Amino acid sequence: MEKTFLMLKPDAVQRGIIGDIVSRFEKKGFKLVALKLIQVDKTLAEEHYKEHKGKGFFGPTVEYIISSPIVAMVWEGKNVVSLAREMMGATNPANAAPGSIRGSYAVDISRNIIHGSDSVESAEREIALYFKPEEILVYDKAGETWLSE
Ligand code: GTP
Ligand code: MG
Repeated sequence: MEKTFLMLKPDAVQRGIIGDIVSRFEKKGFKLVALKLIQVDKTLAEEHYKEHKGKGFFGPTVEYIISSPIVAMVWEGKNVVSLAREMMGATNPANAAPGSIRGSYAVDISRNIIHGSDSVESAEREIALYFKPEEILVYDKAGETWLSE
């Protein structure tokens, strides 16, 4: 089953909305297969965002990610990569649809609450950056047969 890597960024943790955001993905029908609260170091943050190295926002984004603990998660489900991105809303909360996560909880691109992998390949890379293989759990979840044929 498809997996994605989601991160609740430092602003989500500090603002006390971890539960609200996790709840959205649970209610959608996705399965949580890994979760931890961690302090990211500079090396990991730079590796995570290396595609943006050289851009003006690279340094500030790394500083933002390492400024306070984050919640790292792996979620599983049908089309979870693209559906999670839809649920997050546009990168800039000013343009994010009102009901989306960024549209509901954020106002500025420099504090946009959540990260989600942008492709299945990115998800594989990011999951491996944050989790050991044995930290990704395999289990049956009640109600799975009510989500699709
Ligand atoms: P992520 O899920 O965090 O990767 O966001 P994204 O895929 O929607 O956007 P992108 O990968 O293009 O940018 C990565 C992150 O860098 C964004 O989520 C922001 O935190 C930050 N960022 C991107 N553009 C800007 C910008 O113009 N200004 C600032 N301050 N931060 C930016
Ligand atoms: Mg991105």
